[in-house]
Amino acid sequence: MPSNVIVGLQWGDEGKGKITDLLAKNSDYVIRYQGGNNSGHSIHIKNRYFILHLVPSGVIYSGVKCIIGPGVVVDPKSFIKEIQNLESMGMNTSNVLLAKRAHITMPYHRLLDQYKEESLGKKSIGTTHKGIGPTYEDKIARIGIRVLDLLDLDIFYKKLKYNIDLKNQIFTKIFQKKTLSFKSIYEEYIEYAKTISDRIIDGVYEIHKAFHNKKKILFEGAQAMLLDINYGTYPYVTTSSTSTGGVCTGSGIPPHFLKNFIGISKAYCTRVGFGPFPTEIENEIGDVIRQKGNEYGATTKRPRRCGWLDLIALKYSCMINGINYLVITKLDVLSELKIIKVCVKYKYNNDIIQYFPADIIKNVKGVYIDFPGWKKDISSIHKYEDLPINCQKYIGFIENFLNLEIILISVGSERNQNIIKNKSLFLKIFN
Ligand code: GDP
Ligand code: IMO
Ligand code: MG
Repeated sequence: MPSNVIVGLQWGDEGKGKITDLLAKNSDYVIRYQGGNNSGHSIHIKNRYFILHLVPSGVIYSGVKCIIGPGVVVDPKSFIKEIQNLESMGMNTSNVLLAKRAHITMPYHRLLDQYKEESLGKKSIGTTHKGIGPTYEDKIARIGIRVLDLLDLDIFYKKLKYNIDLKNQIFTKIFQKKTLSFKSIYEEYIEYAKTISDRIIDGVYEIHKAFHNKKKILFEGAQAMLLDINYGTYPYVTTSSTSTGGVCTGSGIPPHFLKNFIGISKAYCTRVGFGPFPTEIENEIGDVIRQKGNEYGATTKRPRRCGWLDLIALKYSCMINGINYLVITKLDVLSELKIIKVCVKYKYNNDIIQYFPADIIKNVKGVYIDFPGWKKDISSIHKYEDLPINCQKYIGFIENFLNLEIILISVGSERNQNIIKNKSLFLKIFN
């Protein structure tokens, strides 16, 4: 059975956790394929709030197998804490499995992340300091330690020794920082190995078996398109392939296993960390959106930068990802605004352009169309026809501009605060 993919289309935090949880109900598997615990995916069910960093957002359904796939980087300390947290909230995590090929984040990765950021000064990326970049760097440099290495302590010992010796040189000679102790890290990770060993599987064979047994598989993207290492706002990006192309490389499947590419976009834009943001709102309206949308990082608690919906960036994201259906989240957040702006062109040097330039890092600014607001609470609406007419016009404009159908509109953080716009299509895709 061909699988579905969920990806964020902006700079992250579009509500992937909420939508994955919603769609996980009809899935047998939910699989993460890239990123690490830099993610923070929120799920809100009645009065319970979950924030997932590494665990796929299918975990709330105990029958769903949740795989942390080969392309993910795993910090075992953070993973174990997350599992313990979920268990303490009454969740059954026995179906949370870890692919052998995933790379492991070590304490030196977290420190390198921090030291590199410090050394960049004003040019820093604004990373989450979780060590994600340095873990992927070691993977590409072919000196990384993988989950399966924790199952063979001789190999783990040798790889760790090599890495600690190397990193201690970098710490002292380049960053003038103190060295790390091999012994304490080795002992710490042996304990982690004991705790997680039962969850370690060959992710590639498990996923292929599931596919051939006609299981319903949902791939859950982390971060988002504009943070993609190849196609995002480089160098202000994360270090993995966040787009749908990353599903194949990050889980070991061929492209024809995939069918529907569901892109998630907020009804506006946010960004955490530094880097270009053509539609950033630098006045009090940005603060209104931040407060109403509770735009504070789920992982780092940093205030998110807020901006207007950027249809040039969104069209580019849909193009790269091959999106066939759209989900718009957080439409309720715009309800208080008198005027809602939508970016339909960019001002780039002295030109007006209608594409997303590779050097977006230069001074690119949004050119807007104004929409009248609807000034009405929409958070308990469940039918598209019940939305205020100005709200429908806003949604209709997005669909026309992108030439894509919006299948779902989220109007609140709670699992049930949704408008399924086209029910028969929705059931066809997800049942
Ligand atoms: P993710 O990283 O893409 O999973 O998104 P995050 O969980 O980091 O951020 C989305 C935030 O918006 C979370 O606090 C969600 O609970 C919340 N949220 C999701 N959908 C909606 C919505 O439609 N309306 C409102 N008001 N909040 C939402
Ligand atoms: P979810 O999955 C928003 C951002 C960081 C920084 C840049 C690089 O919750 O959408 P990194 O630590 O990855 O090297 O930081 O990427 N970033 C995110 N922003 N949501 C995320 O994940 C993010 N993960 C990383 O803020 O700008
Ligand atoms: Mg998030």
